[in-house]
Amino acid sequence: MTAAAPAGAAGPVGSPMRVSVPMRVGVAADHGGFELKEELAASLREQGHEVVDFGAASLDPADDYPDYVVPLARAVAAGDVERGLAVCGSGVGACVAANKVRGARAALVTESFSAHQGVEDDDMNIMCIGGRVLAFNLAWELVQAFLGATFIGGERHVRRLAKVAALEGEA
Ligand code: RB5
Repeated sequence: MTAAAPAGAAGPVGSPMRVSVPMRVGVAADHGGFELKEELAASLREQGHEVVDFGAASLDPADDYPDYVVPLARAVAAGDVERGLAVCGSGVGACVAANKVRGARAALVTESFSAHQGVEDDDMNIMCIGGRVLAFNLAWELVQAFLGATFIGGERHVRRLAKVAALEGEA
């Protein structure tokens, strides 16, 4: 869903294509994504979102992404936060970890089409990005596309997701 921009919504890089309504957004990052997570969290707060930070709370070069990403994914799956943003060095580890949590639908995103289409068609609820891959401005655009999109919920989309969800019941 797109909506009129709240005051200050344009954020630090000008005018994003999509502006999301204020949401409760969870963020998490290891050392590889810490700096980008901090920048994005600050900009999201500036934009009017409620940001729940699952860590890391400080830069620790020896930390492990599952320690932050899994609690984030559980919160998203439980509905405690509406969307999640997981950042590690590449975004890959965060994505692998998040998708182990039942109800998490995480994807590694590097371009804008997937950032919104992943929500519209696939109900992606966690976007994973790489702090060593993306500069802030591109990351911010992707976040705007992600948060500005809503699941279309067509019969075909629901049918496909039911087939994916059925896998979660397998041993
Ligand atoms: C940590 O050095 C790095 O491996 C991690 O942040 C991430 O890139 C894994 O996918």
